[in-house]
Amino acid sequence: MKRNSTFSNRNALKLALIAIACFALAGFAWKGGVTIEPVDGSVVNEQTIETAPNPAAAMAAFNEAAKVFFSARCANCHPASDVPTQGDNFTPHAQGVTRGKEGKGVYGMKCNTCHQDQNLEGDHMPPGVPNWHMPPADQKMVFQGLTAGQLCRQLKNPKMNGGRKTPKEAIHHLEEDPLVTWAWTPGDGRSVPPISYEEFMKQMNAWVANGAACPE
Ligand code: HEC
Ligand code: HEC
Repeated sequence: MKRNSTFSNRNALKLALIAIACFALAGFAWKGGVTIEPVDGSVVNEQTIETAPNPAAAMAAFNEAAKVFFSARCANCHPASDVPTQGDNFTPHAQGVTRGKEGKGVYGMKCNTCHQDQNLEGDHMPPGVPNWHMPPADQKMVFQGLTAGQLCRQLKNPKMNGGRKTPKEAIHHLEEDPLVTWAWTPGDGRSVPPISYEEFMKQMNAWVANGAACPE
């Protein structure tokens, strides 16, 4: 028994030494290798570096996609103030609803009190998807009142876009968030964005593939 446990203690020590050597080596290789330093708002990164930038094509694609961002269905939840807006003419939300710290409303006026997991039938009934809310107070992600160029630069800025480091990551959100796709199934009496979801995603992907340049 004693022999065995001494043996395994030695083995453990050896393993630890090997592990330390590996870490040291990995550290060295990493320092010696070429790493791409992330820069705020930069479009140059592992995902986009091989694509041939075509600024004119990127800007044209973004301008087309921007129509969706600025449409009422999206922009109502991305207001400049702390009050969401409603309808096609951006009327401040009724019932004195406000953002709250997490974008989920304030005590007694939480979004989910009225907004359910699905649209409720009938005109002027609350629309819904699971976890209906607006961006949080510390990162408001404002769309209303911006130019396409300002919106584009904001989407690329990790300090303003929810910490998404690359345009590709920002787009990923558009692929999976039910709050986004809701805009095309918005419930009774509401219009949909001016281009289809497929067309919108095609333009956003073209923007990234062409180097994600921003309009002026
Ligand atoms: C007291 C109930 C109530 C609360 C609380 C509430 N809403 Fe609403 N909301 C509604 C109703 C009802 C409508 C539909 C109004 C209409 O279509 O005329 C609506 C519509 C909206 C719309 C407009 C959809 C569109 O594009 O026209 C947005 C955006 C919205 N709410 C966001 C929020 C957010 C974000 C919160 C929480 C911070 C919230 N609401 C809290 C009842 C509520
Ligand atoms: C019900 C409210 C709501 C609606 C409607 C909505 N959003 Fe958002 N959006 C949010 C919230 C909340 C976040 C923050 C969540 C997060 O960061 O994961 C967000 C974040 C985003 C982001 C990530 C931030 C960034 O700058 O990269 C993008 C992009 C975005 N929304 C686009 C859209 C588009 C496009 C539409 C319409 C097709 C839309 N949203 C409709 C609530 C909404």
